[in-house]
Amino acid sequence: MTTYDDLPYESLPYPSATADRLAVNATLFGLQPAPVGGATVLEVGCASGGHLIPQAMRNPGGKFVGIDASAVQIEAARQRSQALGLTNIDLQVRDLSDKLEREDHFDYILCHGVFSWVSDEHQHQILALIRDRLAPNGVAYVSYNTLPGWYQRLPLRDLMVFHGARFDGPQTQIEQAKAISRFVIGAVPDTEETYRAILRHFFEPLAAGSGSYLFHEYLSEHNRAHYFHQFVDLASASGLRYLADSDLPTMMTGDLSDSARETLETVATDLIATEQYLDFLRNRSFRRSLLIPAECEPENNLAWRHPSPLMVRANAETAGAIEKIEAPDVLPIRAALSHLARRSPAAISIEELARAAGVPAPMMGEAILGAYATASVDLTTVADTFVPVVSTRPVACPLARLQIRQGEDPTTRLHTTAELGPLAGRLLALMDGEHTLDDASGRLFDGQEVTSAIDGYTDLDPVERRRQVRIRLDALSKECAAAGLLIS
Ligand SMILES: C[S@@+](CC[C@H](N)C(=O)[O-])C[C@H]1O[C@@H](n2cnc3c(N)ncnc32)[C@H](O)[C@@H]1O
Repeated sequence: MTTYDDLPYESLPYPSATADRLAVNATLFGLQPAPVGGATVLEVGCASGGHLIPQAMRNPGGKFVGIDASAVQIEAARQRSQALGLTNIDLQVRDLSDKLEREDHFDYILCHGVFSWVSDEHQHQILALIRDRLAPNGVAYVSYNTLPGWYQRLPLRDLMVFHGARFDGPQTQIEQAKAISRFVIGAVPDTEETYRAILRHFFEPLAAGSGSYLFHEYLSEHNRAHYFHQFVDLASASGLRYLADSDLPTMMTGDLSDSARETLETVATDLIATEQYLDFLRNRSFRRSLLIPAECEPENNLAWRHPSPLMVRANAETAGAIEKIEAPDVLPIRAALSHLARRSPAAISIEELARAAGVPAPMMGEAILGAYATASVDLTTVADTFVPVVSTRPVACPLARLQIRQGEDPTTRLHTTAELGPLAGRLLALMDGEHTLDDASGRLFDGQEVTSAIDGYTDLDPVERRRQVRIRLDALSKECAAAGLLIS
């Protein structure tokens, strides 16, 4: 039994930790990673598959292996993948230190939320496993807590661990951890105002958030944050090279003043030093690092190489970015972003964007690279597996429908979590290719979800109620399509 058997972790999709993201960033640094559609992917510490299963669904030609020491979580993952009829995923109860049975090598190895929460020996084994099992052109992802950001969280964790050790069982320990924190924050003397503010700053979201997160982050036996340069040294001692951050815009310095940027360029002589100084500047507490075999030689600088396997998609920042672009638009980025926003959430090729903006594709690629580096667009190597419009008898992603039936927020085909209200959830469950929106209106008419979703519903006459339900379902179905939840 592990602590994750007693209290499973909420297993979610993380866009920054997908094989697709690894492929995008590696491509931009001049590497030639395996096409994700047919790739082999290993996730170390996959919990109940919230991150791996949606990737296996989106890439039926790929092969996905998930390992986790928690039998309870792996059983949950297996049940889900069986219910979805997946045949390209293999979920194993296995300690990461056990040798994998087959001599498989993986194009992508993902390890999110594990490294800082295991012993030093296990940390070493994670890096050794990556080195041992990563294909020559493979890319790995490891996330971990970092210093200096974690220094301010440590008093709270140390308090919770010190107090919690006197109690048994996760739920009691969580309650006690919250109670002791409230007591201490309330009793800190006024002379320690800054200390009290720091404790409160980190405690408030914890008190409101998931008990599972609090337990596995703040009460876990291990939680060792590293400075970025220390992590890079550990990786390098295992024969791995740091490639880039998975969230590439964090490597940029656009948020610094001109003079800060100038000084940084003077004091930081290489990429590792630059990023380390940036962590000191930004008080960073978490990193998502991409690693490659040490003998791989990526380009030093980001570049758009034409032709490119990368496609572009609008994201939540695109509209704001369009507004900020001042005329004259030297690179045709305004026209391109507007085109993307109109086609959202579809991923489209650079060639199509270039045609829309009336410029050569390599020039468009350069402009889009700038937009990606400032988080104004997303890039992907995987063709869309959703439809952006609502058909006569819409079909929602089977995983999303299963999650709704099991009371979870659904995972979209953009690998995000959609927070739907109860009415949209009921609608999604009815999107099985059998029902039209009229059928769904009939089914949901006068039900509890519509009554609470539509203001003044019970005061309306039945004809108006029917009209209002239909209007609301139309709008919600479009939202589902825009979120990437519909597959036909
Ligand atoms: C904080 S959870 C993160 C789960 C998942 N990767 C995520 O981010 O949602 C850590 C996971 O690592 C697994 N784990 C911890 N130590 C392990 C070990 N030695 N071998 C295999 N899995 C381990 C736990 O069972 C747990 O599912």
